Amino acid sequence: MSTYDLVVIGTGPGGYVCAIRAAQLGLRTAVVEKRATHGGTCLNVGCIPSKALLHASEAFEEATKHFPDLGIDVGTVKLDLAKMQGFKAEGVAGNTKGVEFLLKKNKVETFHGTAKIAGAGRVEVTSEDGGNQMLETKNIVIATGSDVTRLPGVEIDETIVVSSTGALELAAVPKRLLVIGAGVIGLELGSVWRRLGAEVTVVEYLDRVLPGMDGEVGKQFQRIMAKQGIAFKLSTKVTGVAVADGAATVTVEPAAGGAAETIQADVVLVAIGRVPYTEGLGLDGVGVRLDNKGRIETDSHYATNVTGIYAIGDVIAGPMLAHKAEDEGVAVAEILAGQSGHVNYAVIPNVVYTYPEVASVGKTEEELKKDGIAYNSGKFPFTANGRAKANGTTEGFVKVLADAASDRVLGVHIVGADAGNLIAEVAVAMEFGASAEDIARTCHAHPTLTEAVKEAALAVGKRAIHV
Ligand code: FAD
Ligand code: NAI
Repeated sequence: MSTYDLVVIGTGPGGYVCAIRAAQLGLRTAVVEKRATHGGTCLNVGCIPSKALLHASEAFEEATKHFPDLGIDVGTVKLDLAKMQGFKAEGVAGNTKGVEFLLKKNKVETFHGTAKIAGAGRVEVTSEDGGNQMLETKNIVIATGSDVTRLPGVEIDETIVVSSTGALELAAVPKRLLVIGAGVIGLELGSVWRRLGAEVTVVEYLDRVLPGMDGEVGKQFQRIMAKQGIAFKLSTKVTGVAVADGAATVTVEPAAGGAAETIQADVVLVAIGRVPYTEGLGLDGVGVRLDNKGRIETDSHYATNVTGIYAIGDVIAGPMLAHKAEDEGVAVAEILAGQSGHVNYAVIPNVVYTYPEVASVGKTEEELKKDGIAYNSGKFPFTANGRAKANGTTEGFVKVLADAASDRVLGVHIVGADAGNLIAEVAVAMEFGASAEDIARTCHAHPTLTEAVKEAALAVGKRAIHV
């Protein structure tokens, strides 16, 4: 039996970062991971492979549709999907091996197998070959992540009816792809396959895309996606998917009820959210409490109701994002080492990696209205940004929302090329409690897209220069 200060269950972004930080702080740390490779959902079947395919498919679309406008003639452009999938796999392998290296470098002991909490301070590891060992530890951090939400009555076979995992692995471009859910997975992976030639229809239960994001952003983004060729059926629910002869018949009806219709598809992507993953962990046995959504309940120090057991990442409340999980990993490691780890949930950026990208941090207009907070809004379109004009990437805008009394930045919402990188300066500014005036008075390099952020901040005070 080995004894540790900390055993982390799961080596996704939450778990591996937590383990590294704990080891840096001098805790004797081990991780248990049931996948063959480290990195969790994010590196293996999430963030990284999806971004590799988004990058490659965007390059394909550039070459097929936009190069001629730039005076570049590359002749007939052909897709080699197997090679593109190989490119994706290389990116994944590079990242997962990187995590393995970092764990080793920081002297974190690694165990491959399924972990079950046998009691406070005891983690049983069962390896694939059935081998069994018990780890003794002062503390346990659960970082087991999340799993796909199933649609009742719809079986995911990962060939015709796929989750995001199957949608990242398709061996051929489907002629017709039907996506259930206009959330981030539906629109990112819908974009990948549309660029590569699929006819994509997105069926969404609500009357808008990207729920949770600022409403104006959602509207504009939907228009852009529709212009690119994605068809939307909003306020519509899927009531059944029948698979026969290698294709699917999807039955849909208005969300409010009404006449049903059917849509034929070659592949159906179920992307209606994710649920916390706690299967087989033995939580019942040790009495760890879950909330009504199946998430592990924790206090502000990530402690569960059982002494010595903590939880972070997708398996607890909050946005299911890799960087949120990572920051919680650092915070809990620091707390366990006697420091004051902390995550500021008011400043967690959220990015959709389509083209153009959508990026958001802080409050939406809808949230501010609901909370009765008086605010000023400054908006600047990329059509008026010099660099966007020169690049021919003028779709979208930056919107800065600032407190009406103090001018403090409360939220920023961007649709546009490179929005995911643009949002970072705002996140830093918000962490420092910046006002819109602070951003407006900061010198931004010309010609860059960042000038649109400065101009939107100037627009809060109604003094943008270029509109
Ligand atoms: P996970 O990454 O899910 O890791 C949990 C790990 O625990 C897994 O490896 C699992 O095998 C292991 N595990 C579970 N149970 C046990 C057990 N009993 N014993 C041992 N090991 C166990 N987020 C972003 O921020 N940006 C993105 O671009 C992005 N893209 C995404 C794209 C897709 C298609 C998907 C599905 C998700 C994406 N996400 C993205 C979300 C992101 O992947 C998650 O928020 C993140 O992985 C959560 O990290 P985690 O450490 O909590 O859990
Ligand atoms: P999501 O919550 O983003 O979107 C799900 C969508 O499905 C919502 O619009 C919802 O209204 C709709 N929906 C739910 N039930 C439905 C039904 N029965 N019929 C039709 N529509 C229905 O979830 P998604 O896209 O599955 O992604 C899961 C999570 O993964 C995200 O919440 C996010 O946290 C994470 N993720 C993050 C990414 C990023 O940061 N770029 C990329 C991909 C995933």
